[in-house]
Amino acid sequence: MTATDSDRYAVMGNPIGHSKSPMIHSLFAEQTGQHLGYEAILAEEDGFDEAASCFFIEGGKGLNITVPFKHQALDLAHQLTPRAEKAGAVNTLWYNGEVMHGDNTDGIGLLTDLKQNNQVTIKDKRVLVLGAGGAVRGVLQPLLEEEPSELVIANRTQARAEQLVAEFCEYKNIVALQFELLRGHFDLIINGTSASLQGAAIPLPDSVVSENTVCYDMMYSAVETPFNRWARENGAGMQLDGLGMLVEQAAEAFYIWRGIRPQTQPVIEKVRTELG
Ligand code: ATR
Repeated sequence: MTATDSDRYAVMGNPIGHSKSPMIHSLFAEQTGQHLGYEAILAEEDGFDEAASCFFIEGGKGLNITVPFKHQALDLAHQLTPRAEKAGAVNTLWYNGEVMHGDNTDGIGLLTDLKQNNQVTIKDKRVLVLGAGGAVRGVLQPLLEEEPSELVIANRTQARAEQLVAEFCEYKNIVALQFELLRGHFDLIINGTSASLQGAAIPLPDSVVSENTVCYDMMYSAVETPFNRWARENGAGMQLDGLGMLVEQAAEAFYIWRGIRPQTQPVIEKVRTELG
């Protein structure tokens, strides 16, 4: 069987040209002996619903959804997992012939990369999350479930951070603070802003970082991200980028679709090499 006459999967977004998902899922398929095809599909900004529906009508088995369609994908799903519902976004869709299912694997991807791949613990730790957009919303619940002593959200637009705190107020240890009001060092700082994409610096007090701080940029790139450079220059103990999260969220989607868990470490290494 060749990839073209087997089960079809894809990632859909706009832009999509630089997506690593086809490479990642092809490596998973090869490693696990699964026969499947996985492509990248560019959907028009106003054409996501139609493009996704067409994909499934034509027999597609599953879709990964990326920027800017994760919110729209929520509306396309008939049945959401609790974590997708709480995240308010869907990055994995699958259709069983009757029901369109939607899940969000971003949070578990981040947690697996932090805990399993990098031995970072969150329980009883002071965590700072930068940003209050879709990327942050998608990972808040799994972070809070780890029971940090405190989770502070700081965002350029304070009202968005406060809105998120209100949505997650069943967790008592979450607060919103402005960048300049942050005090003391944090054990873990996660950058979920898109500032790195613009090469922009986030105006953080240097004191938030110590040699025990792990800094995690949800963005990744071939060279050190601006946030991770700032972290290193200010003495953070460890800087990680989001490549591991990308591979881990893909592995969770692969597991949902195929019922088999691929090994992620060799794939992370391969994609890292390819990036460089
Ligand atoms: P996404 O869904 O990828 O999270 P988004 O909803 O546009 O995208 O959110 C982008 C996040 O990056 C927001 O938290 C944004 O801050 P604002 O809410 O104030 O817009 C943040 N962000 C973008 N550029 C930034 C910059 N130069 N400095 C600091 N934060 C920035």
